Amino acid sequence: MSEKFESLDRKAEEAKLGGGQKRIDAQHAKGKLTARERLHFLLDEGSFEEIGMLVTHRSTNFGLDKQQFLGDGVVTGYGKVNGRLVYVFSQDFTVLGGSLAEAHATKICKIMDLAAQNGAPVIGLNDSGGARIQEGVVSLGGYADIFYRNVQASGLVPQLSAIMGPCAGGAVYSPALTDFIFMVEGTSYMFVTGPNVVKTVTHEEVSSEELGGASTHSTKSGVTHFSCANEIACIDAMKRVLSYVPQNCEEQAPSVPYTAGNESRPALDQIVPDNPNLPYDMKEVIANTIDEGSFTEVHAQYAENMVVGFARLAGKSIGIVANQPAYLAGVLDIDASNKAARFVRFCDAFNIPLLVFEDVPGFLPGTDQEWNGIISNGAKLLYAFSEATVPRVTVITRKAYGGAYDVMNSKHIGADMNFAWPGAEIAVMGAKGAAEIIFRKEIKDASDTEAKLKEKEAEYAELFANPYNAAARGYVDEVIKPHQTREKLIRAFEMLKNKVVNTPKKKHGNIPL
Ligand code: HXC
Repeated sequence: MSEKFESLDRKAEEAKLGGGQKRIDAQHAKGKLTARERLHFLLDEGSFEEIGMLVTHRSTNFGLDKQQFLGDGVVTGYGKVNGRLVYVFSQDFTVLGGSLAEAHATKICKIMDLAAQNGAPVIGLNDSGGARIQEGVVSLGGYADIFYRNVQASGLVPQLSAIMGPCAGGAVYSPALTDFIFMVEGTSYMFVTGPNVVKTVTHEEVSSEELGGASTHSTKSGVTHFSCANEIACIDAMKRVLSYVPQNCEEQAPSVPYTAGNESRPALDQIVPDNPNLPYDMKEVIANTIDEGSFTEVHAQYAENMVVGFARLAGKSIGIVANQPAYLAGVLDIDASNKAARFVRFCDAFNIPLLVFEDVPGFLPGTDQEWNGIISNGAKLLYAFSEATVPRVTVITRKAYGGAYDVMNSKHIGADMNFAWPGAEIAVMGAKGAAEIIFRKEIKDASDTEAKLKEKEAEYAELFANPYNAAARGYVDEVIKPHQTREKLIRAFEMLKNKVVNTPKKKHGNIPL
């Protein structure tokens, strides 16, 4: 019997060595961890159960009959993150460049099926040269099998993707179909076509890093939600995100113990400047409202005029969507709308209540925005809020102008509670622009046009640049002093915790994609 045990031990050792020590050293030399080391840092100690360790590749073409790698370049299984079940796959670049072939794909599909059936998140650690060239169409089929499962699992269980090396060609579409992408700075990249093809087709010279590195995707394309300094930081960021989300769409978002105390936050009274044209940092408003230090920003470097992220309020998970007056005056544009819409839909799918802080001068004007589709892109945010059935509360801190007033979680599109601070301005547009249009003739005919404009601007501001017209109609439920915000929100979300909305039966809506 002991001989049989020894043979099993030998196989396990062989599997754990992946493509061999030389390749492991090469991986380390690039500043990368191995597939198993990553799982070690991700999962609670001793919790990992591997599935399919002895699976081998199927193709025997191009010399692949000479050597068999146990596991076929991907480590799969399940384990725990902070005591909660997760399913994982971790691609092993030391084995044929982590390339994806039939057996490799089948292993990933197996854990995705288990995750969907048992209701727990899937975490993919990607580090792969893409479709295994020696296996041809079978590799492509394997990718498609994964894409299909990504879509079936979407909205059912959270899906997180870390990019920890190459992710090129069609391979990028599996992470793209998941909920959040985390990239490691300097060692990971994602692109559909690499620098060589780009050079041939468009004659552009661009490095892998510039074309699809973490900095590019966190600032320019918005493909990645988190850009992390190194692999450990990347793993920590994933764990932090998991701490706010439920295991699946049937569960409530998790909460941490909270003891009620003095919820007044006087610092909030000092943040918004008296001059409505001066910026302030909405993140200060967020930090002073939520449980201390509980904010995890998503997409921090992309479309900074919109801030989105997870937080806790009285111990409970919430999703925050906020205009940022400190960046482009908090205007709504294409990127900000897309960023917020996707986050709203994630929170709604996974029962995470939404808190909106609003200070928005309107949509960004210009040919660039119009020609690139601010109409259909802005509509995505409108759609996302309108279909969200989780508890939804808005706080208007200052401006709520034009269509942006409607879009930013107004009561008209289903917000449950809408608070406004006393300095809120809720109108079709700012007082100056409004006066210039509706008093144009009067201003033109005046002996002192400047003075007339000022007078009319003040007249309009007096009438509309306040929250009281909206409050008189019930569009604003209560005008509150800033320092009361935290307490009001805790009570509102507590009141809304059993909210149920029965939506009309249909196959699915048609969000303007
Ligand atoms: C088979 C592969 C491979 C692949 C890498 N390897 N990619 N084997 N299929 N796709 C192997 C290499 O031959 C090498 O084996 C080992 O992995 C390490 O690769 P290196 O090139 O030495 O590493 P590095 O210099 O770090 O370069 C990494 C790389 C490069 C940039 C990823 O390997 C590369 O360009 N690979 C091909 C990428 C590609 O074109 N993939 C197909 C994309 S299309 P040895 O034995 O020499 O160590 C695609 C379609 C999906 O994926 C469609 C889905 C719908």
